[in-house]
Amino acid sequence: MQLTRRTLIAVSLSLTLTLTPSAAVFAASPAPAKGEHGMVVTAQHLASEVGVDVLKKGGNAVDAAVAVGYALAVVYPNAGNIGGGGFMTIRLKDGRSTFLDFRERAPLAATKTMYLDKDGKPVKGASLDGYLAVGVPGSVAGFEMARQKYGTLTRQDLMAPAIAYARDGFVLNQGDAASFAGGAERLAKDPAAAAIFLKKDGKPYGIGEKLAQPDLAASLSAISEKGPDAFYKGAIADAIVKASGAKGGILAKGDFEQYAVRELKPVTCSYRGYEIISSPPPSSGGVIICEILNVLELYPLSYLGAGSAGTVHVMVEAMRYAYVDRNSALGDPDFVDNPVEKLLDKGYAKDIRDKIDPFRAGVSKDLMPKGFGESKETTHYSIIDKDGNAVAVTYTLNGSFGAGVVADGTGILLNNEMDDFTQKPGVPNLYGLVQGEANAIEPKKTPLSSMSPTVVTKDGKPFMVIGSPGGSRIITITLEAIVNVIDHGMNIQEAIDAPRIHHQWLPDTVYVEPFGLSPDTERLLAGMGYHLELADKTWGQAAGILVGGKSLDEIEKGGGARYNGAIDSRAAAGEALGY
Ligand code: DON
Repeated sequence: MQLTRRTLIAVSLSLTLTLTPSAAVFAASPAPAKGEHGMVVTAQHLASEVGVDVLKKGGNAVDAAVAVGYALAVVYPNAGNIGGGGFMTIRLKDGRSTFLDFRERAPLAATKTMYLDKDGKPVKGASLDGYLAVGVPGSVAGFEMARQKYGTLTRQDLMAPAIAYARDGFVLNQGDAASFAGGAERLAKDPAAAAIFLKKDGKPYGIGEKLAQPDLAASLSAISEKGPDAFYKGAIADAIVKASGAKGGILAKGDFEQYAVRELKPVTCSYRGYEIISSPPPSSGGVIICEILNVLELYPLSYLGAGSAGTVHVMVEAMRYAYVDRNSALGDPDFVDNPVEKLLDKGYAKDIRDKIDPFRAGVSKDLMPKGFGESKETTHYSIIDKDGNAVAVTYTLNGSFGAGVVADGTGILLNNEMDDFTQKPGVPNLYGLVQGEANAIEPKKTPLSSMSPTVVTKDGKPFMVIGSPGGSRIITITLEAIVNVIDHGMNIQEAIDAPRIHHQWLPDTVYVEPFGLSPDTERLLAGMGYHLELADKTWGQAAGILVGGKSLDEIEKGGGARYNGAIDSRAAAGEALGY
């Protein structure tokens, strides 16, 4: 066994410590949803139904993912989108896996210092609000490539439900209404957005009220009929470019004409006999999840226990080191030489473990690389079909309702993804991420993401599909769900609902969800030198599927449902739907 003596001392110390009544406060979770033929888990219940209907009609998981992507653009517009971008991790029944990068690109006229004033200081809100914040959208091109290469149904079939919900409207439930209420102030600032999402009295639509989006229905119908050219080369691009020019943006027709999806090899790594298949750069997600898992692999997490000071200690230290790498070394692979091989190397993980003091918190500023100076919403959905094709999609407008702007007549909310770039080395972004040159703005470059749509396999078969929104916390949310299933034996719903902790190197703070750790554990960690911030709100909305049973225990015993789906209890409008 590769445990060093130092580690073992730490382990036994932690165990002694955790034998005091100090387990995290876990609430009971509802049972996961069951399905024998397929499972669709999304953050909006109508979109989950759309996905299951596609599977029932004989479409595969990729078909369902495309239909869900378009549906969420209508029924979950704070994050679902055609004006933003995202990633799709696909693991096919024959064992092949692939990754589609349809994330936004910087406009051709973008410059490294475009969000700085003449004194070199970031202009507040410039990368977040209005047209200057908008990256060239990729979702329409991404869905079309997914459908053409890996789907089986027509674009018209897959887009019809979204068009119907946009044209005829949908009735808001409590979760939907809460999301619109949260965006009301932002949407009020743009007359075109306000005309769609706010009522005549300026108030957001409430529970039981119906929201129709006729302009969006027309845009979707044009895309359905003519394909992505309707978006990238036709009237929609014209309208966006015109509005951008009139309102301080820099988008040009050329930006749209040359947008291209990248098909990339997913990042893979092994963790305790499981294979993790996740997002490569321009996401940091897969690399950083794997780096953290490699570090954790030789700590006995199940023995230390979920939520114990010992487990939190090693997890936070692994996160600390990995986020330094994230924020300093990674960027768009067309522009930066990403040291992926090094970061995924098990020997590199050992070097990190050797630096972790078993008894004390590390100090982030000591890890500052040379020359160095995330709000809501994104959405994740997980789908598996009767043949075992598994698809994980995370896509986003970045902030809730993106840049908060809609070009007249399009009905399409635009992203504020440009904020994911480094505005200036050392200056935190929306998610408090302090990043470096590798992620500096350049024309056509894609900003570094944390989105981590992930498929886990075991013995060559799909085991888990998982991902979440949450800005820079996406990585730790996804990681913790995996660890909760594999190390702590939780069922998929418990693994997703369990309280979260997060550390991202800077600020040097361990964020803890409400009631996430017991007071005794908090005191133990504080005694080790940790600065804890007990958050007043939860974060993330994970969507997961486990194959063969609801937990490892059930899988081992046999007899569990084939597909077990869980939408985060934090996702008020979501649903896991099996059939
Ligand atoms: O790509 C990224 O990492 C961010 N734009 C994701 C934003 C996000 O998750 C916001 N939702 N909570």
